[in-house]
Order: sequence, then C-alpha cells, then structure tokens
Amino acid sequence: MTEHENHQHGGAPGHAQGHGGGHASHSGHSAGGHAHTTDAELADTLELDALILGSYLEEASAWAAELMPEAPATIIDVGAGSGAGTLALARRFPEAQLTALDKSADMLERTLAAATEGGFGARTAGLQADLDGGWPASAAADLLWASSSLHELADPERTMAEMFAALNRGGVLLVVEMDALPSFLPDILAEDSAIEPGLEGRLHAVLAARGWNHHPDWTAGLEGAGFAVERRHFPSEGSTTPELAARYGRAFLGRMASALEGSASPADLASLALLLGDGPESLERRGGLVVRGHRTGWAARKL
Ligand SMILES: C[S@@+](CC[C@H](N)C(=O)[O-])C[C@H]1O[C@@H](n2cnc3c(N)ncnc32)[C@H](O)[C@@H]1O
Repeated sequence: MTEHENHQHGGAPGHAQGHGGGHASHSGHSAGGHAHTTDAELADTLELDALILGSYLEEASAWAAELMPEAPATIIDVGAGSGAGTLALARRFPEAQLTALDKSADMLERTLAAATEGGFGARTAGLQADLDGGWPASAAADLLWASSSLHELADPERTMAEMFAALNRGGVLLVVEMDALPSFLPDILAEDSAIEPGLEGRLHAVLAARGWNHHPDWTAGLEGAGFAVERRHFPSEGSTTPELAARYGRAFLGRMASALEGSASPADLASLALLLGDGPESLERRGGLVVRGHRTGWAARKL
C-alpha cells in the first residue's frame, strides 16, 4: 500500500489509469479492459456530473447531518476523485477538517486545488492510499463519505468492516452509487432522426454486461460490518445549458464509445458516431438533450 500525506495544490493531472479489481467504474474503468481512461478524462466527466447532476450532494450531505448527534469534526471522502463530495461536505460542515482519500495522486491534486479555490484549502488534506492494500492505519473520522467508489474496490466487504472500525462511535458512513449510467437523449426522437430509438438503453446494457458500474444493494454488507443502515433514492434531472449538456454528453459518450468498440451492434456504433460527430445529429447541433441520473444512498450509522 502506498500511503502518504499529500498537501500539493494545483498542477495538471494526466497519467493513464490502471484497471481495478473485478468492479468497474460508471465512468470508464471497464472490467472488460478496453477503456483506457486517463485520470484527466475521468476527472472532467466527474466535474461535469457534479455540476449538472449534483443535487444529490446537497441532499445526501444534509441527510448525514440529520443523522449525527453533532456536526462531524473530521470527515474522510473515500475515493474522492476530483473532489465533488469533498467540496459539498466542506460547505455543509464549515468547522470540519476534511481528508480526501484516493489512490490517485492526480485526483488528489485536483481535489486540493478545487478546495483551495473554494476557500477550504486550510482545512482539507489529501491522503494517497490504495484501499485494496488495506485501510490506512491513521485514518479515523466522524463521517465517511464514499460516492461511486465502493464498487471499485477489490474486496468491498473487507473495506466496509475496516471503515466501521475507523469510524468514531455515533458516526456515519454515507455510501452513494449511481443506479444507472447517465442518459442524454430525449425519450422521443424526431421522426427523421437517423438515431435508432432506445440507443442509450441498449448501449448501457452492453456495458452493464461487462461490469460497468456493477454494484449490489450494499445494505446486507453494511449490516454485516456492524452498521445500522437506511437507504434513499436520489433521482436527478439536470437543469443546465444546452452547451454544458453537450459537453457532458461528449465526455461521457466518448468514453463509452471506446469501451463499446467491437461489442455494440454496428448500427448502434454508427448512431453513436453521429452523436459524437459534427453533423446535424451531433450533440452540439441536435439540441433537446435531457441529462438524467439516478443514485441510491446508504446511510450507515455506528451506534
Ligand atoms: C468514479 S470515481 C468517484 C469520485 C468521486 N467520489 C465522485 O463521486 O465524483 C472513483 C474514485 O475512486 C478511486 N479509487 C478506485 N479504487 C480505489 C482504491 N482501491 N483505493 C483508493 N481509491 C480508489 C479512483 O481513483 C477514483 O478517483
């Protein structure tokens, strides 16, 4: 396990990301092994996701606050990525000391730069650790936040037990996962559209069969680790500008396209190419994009 305190700020992330265990990220590390995602690409997608579909950040952090007897003094964002959760938690809990934990130094740099820009730099630290090698001994907290990260771990049950041990009594572990990949196309396409209806559903099914975003209902695992668990659903339809919707669509569908090569049908790959091209069907020119996401949250309390 590599573990060190990382207080760097700024800098441009960019090294190629390796593949995790048998679990796959919603946004690109495929168990099938064909999507070579860089941290920079993943971070861009995560930032657009937080900007457009980030209502769950407010809702889930408010839920954590409701469940805690007093405001948390220490918080760890587990698998912080580019820092969407870290920033939301810094806003929600203005007195808390925050630690962004991630195996990627580039992600931590992004998070720390964003925290500094947001005015939270003095109370935010980075901790580089690969949880597949074990929970870092020094990491204890009142609130643990694990958004779209638990399913990426090689042995989530073991890490849940380690998080139970690392949490102070009365504390909360808030786990969030995407129920489905984000979608961009309206339900009804124009009659003269060359895009086959149902395209995104079929592409998501191919990716799901390859392990993308695969996660179980974590309730049993969390209870097995000792937590008292509640679950909530967070649907969100992004209200955003057509330009931002197209940027997110291009980032996300572009990453999907490289993973789908050779596994989706030729007709669906051709439709995807039209969306990602620069013709009238392109994401930027077709208009009418509707960004939708669905997440589930598990609030796990250590009583
Ligand atoms: C899909 S991203 C989610 C980021 C962020 N929590 C969010 O919701 O926007 C998953 C993050 O978990 C990190 N991660 C994956 N496996 C990890 C491991 N074994 N140890 C520590 N971090 C890990 C990745 O580097 C990545 O930044």
